[in-house]
Amino acid sequence: MISNPAGPLNGKAAVPGDKSISHRALIAGASATGETRIQGLLEAEDVMRTACALRTLGVPVDDLGSGAWRVLGRGVGGLTEPASVLDMGNSGTGTRLLMGLVASHGFGCVFNGDSSLAQRPMERVMEPLRRMGAAFQARSGGRLPVTVMGTAAPVPIEYEPPQASAQVKSAVLLAGLNAPGRTSVAEALATRDHTELMLTAFGADVSVDNDGDGRRITIEGRPELAAREVQVPGDLSSAAFPIVAALLVPGSSIELTGVGVNPLRTGVLETLEDMGADIRLSNRSDEGGEPVADIAALAGPLRGVEVPGARAPSMIDEYPVLAVAAAFAEGTTRLAGLAELRVKESDRLRAMADGLAACGIDVEEGDDSLTIHGRAGPPVGGTGIEVDMDHRIAMAFLVLGLAAEAPVSVDDAGPIETSFPGFAALMNGLGARLTRGRQ
Ligand code: S3P
Repeated sequence: MISNPAGPLNGKAAVPGDKSISHRALIAGASATGETRIQGLLEAEDVMRTACALRTLGVPVDDLGSGAWRVLGRGVGGLTEPASVLDMGNSGTGTRLLMGLVASHGFGCVFNGDSSLAQRPMERVMEPLRRMGAAFQARSGGRLPVTVMGTAAPVPIEYEPPQASAQVKSAVLLAGLNAPGRTSVAEALATRDHTELMLTAFGADVSVDNDGDGRRITIEGRPELAAREVQVPGDLSSAAFPIVAALLVPGSSIELTGVGVNPLRTGVLETLEDMGADIRLSNRSDEGGEPVADIAALAGPLRGVEVPGARAPSMIDEYPVLAVAAAFAEGTTRLAGLAELRVKESDRLRAMADGLAACGIDVEEGDDSLTIHGRAGPPVGGTGIEVDMDHRIAMAFLVLGLAAEAPVSVDDAGPIETSFPGFAALMNGLGARLTRGRQ
């Protein structure tokens, strides 16, 4: 796909449903008793893999059309042994959450994924789940394919993950759903709390203690979860691409409606505002404990900032597009605490450093940091980027191309389907010029 320098972006749009919340809505629905209806589910490859895996685990999941989905829950502990391998495609979230969920069921199953997912570390979930009684066989480096031997007699644990990870936290809490007694996770830096909010909305007893040293989440095992209606808000991680595009293309003014603005996800808005961006939230509401708002973004000059590592969990997926914004800013932007970016869908630290350099930006890649010397205007562009199966690298460089001096192309726009179906159509509807082709 090729991204051509564009005129102003204008208009209103709705981004697809939140990926994190969509996975959790399906999983909570599967663990409840009765019929859960989900509206606004993200109908993208990653979430479809979770839907498919749940079906293989004995849970009827049906597409009712027009964005509505139905899950016929089997109750806590009600999954059944799958007859085939669970193929999770590119989805790290689906894999790690479901590994937790099945770990406290007394049967075995095998998880596999594509060549990007097969490079990603799974030991981080296997370690706590072993303590709860599950056993695993994995490829070298704790990588997929992984066989989980779940336990019918899970033990609740208290766990403190060594890395800030909502996926690890969620895997432990979901395993704890079917363990007798209290399972708790302590995190030094708070990560997205969609699992806590979703399980609470379904009737689980989840308590959260914010003491001076971080956050402790405790779930009471073996609750009766009641099926309910879920409305999935728009995904801020997807919205970040048109928002940054609008900030960068002179004269732009866009509005995105119904976007999730959970405070544990809004680090990118805070950072862009620190950079001088004109971003306005309005029409605030609440969907099952999840804050939602319309977000307007207006083009204007940006300045470089220091982004502290402590902010990383609240914007972990937004660094690629933030790095693009920094390339246009006046002055230097320093991004710290980025070790986790090396184990995402690709090594995002390297991908951003290499890609920005290819676009004519002066950038320094550290072990866990990125320093970007902004051009105080458009980068040169005029190059092709290899996206290495990473949807967010593809979208970030397509955004860069819209405001660069010369077009930028990505070798593979296919991975965008994992999280943001209709990305090119939505962007072009606002005035972008994304076309099929090669630089
Ligand atoms: C997610 C957590 C984050 C994030 C991912 C979605 C989730 O991963 O990068 O896209 O839904 O829990 P980590 O838990 O590995 O930080």
